[in-house]
Amino acid sequence: MKIAIAGATGLTGEVLLSILPKSRLSDAELVLLASSSSAGKVLENEAGTHQIQELRDGCFEDVDLAFFAVGDALSAEFVPQALEAGAKVVDKSNAFRLEEGVPLVVAGVNDDDIGSARLVANPNCTTIGFAHAVAPLRQFGIEEVVAASYQSLSGAGRESVNHFWAEAGKALQGEPSAYSESAAAALQVIPAIDQLIGDEHKEETKLRLESAKILGLDAERIYNTAVRVPVLVGHCIAIHLRVSGPVDESRVRAALAGNPTLLVLQTGETPTSFHAIQYPNRVIVGRIRVRDGGGCIELFTVSDNLHIGAALNGLLIAEQLVL
Ligand SMILES: NC(=O)c1ccc[n+]([C@@H]2O[C@H](COP(=O)([O-])OP(=O)(O)OC[C@H]3O[C@@H](n4cnc5c(N)ncnc54)[C@H](OP(=O)(O)O)[C@@H]3O)[C@@H](O)[C@H]2O)c1
Repeated sequence: MKIAIAGATGLTGEVLLSILPKSRLSDAELVLLASSSSAGKVLENEAGTHQIQELRDGCFEDVDLAFFAVGDALSAEFVPQALEAGAKVVDKSNAFRLEEGVPLVVAGVNDDDIGSARLVANPNCTTIGFAHAVAPLRQFGIEEVVAASYQSLSGAGRESVNHFWAEAGKALQGEPSAYSESAAAALQVIPAIDQLIGDEHKEETKLRLESAKILGLDAERIYNTAVRVPVLVGHCIAIHLRVSGPVDESRVRAALAGNPTLLVLQTGETPTSFHAIQYPNRVIVGRIRVRDGGGCIELFTVSDNLHIGAALNGLLIAEQLVL
């Protein structure tokens, strides 16, 4: 089998390359694709060394499966070419997530949606952690979601991480750090991720609409404030669910125990972004509280945005697509 990775030199592509040799697709021949400035460079993983080729017209000939870990515009241009060439595709960008007929899948949550599709979209990194934790709680009748997501720098790609390191020295000296929409300011907390449309940033819209598509929730009753925080890896979400209830904490814990991807902490144990580094393949849930006479559930989730939130989810989808 021949597998292409478009965006192999990026943060997500790099993680995918590192976990592929441990997967059920480990025997595949790899075609690594990136921009013309990376063409000719060599990347290494457990399976060997691989030379980068330029992502360009005609590069998906004989490819059975293509992962896309590039920006929206490149996916919009090249995913149709890969499909046309006969490949199955897992796309990590935002380009096709809400398109009708394209399954948007969190592996282990809504795998049945894959059906006979040849293109499957991988959700936003925050949506994946959210969906794992909230899916088992739908049995309590979710009426409203209020969330605040604390999202790491790597969620915005390599440029954002590089920007952080370039600015961190200045920030530690007490100088103001430059800030742009795509790269958070070093050592600052900024409740604005991506473009503001109306009163909602695009990152907030993604969680709302993607969660509605994956979990069947009412998109009009999901509210999120997405905050960029100066953490390198690991997205956290404070989630408040209004349910038709009433529930108690033991029923909430029993429901969460049904999802093997979740690592549920005990009362008194504090979930921190460090848990994402320790358990990159899990979604960690803690601070579980039931309030308002059993009508509200509160949780705090932590997940590695590059592993379970991107590369690993894509790989688990791919295994179902081609094996
Ligand atoms: N980071 C996350 O936590 C995360 C999570 C879920 C989904 N995603 C999505 O995954 C995708 C990749 O994100 P990322 O964070 O991995 O981005 P990234 O670190 O910025 O990497 C971008 C990749 O795109 C390639 N690229 C850029 N311009 C190109 C061009 N003109 N032609 C061919 N390749 C080009 C880059 O190649 P060069 O190195 O040659 O420039 C690099 O391999 C995005 O759609 C993102 O929304 C990211």
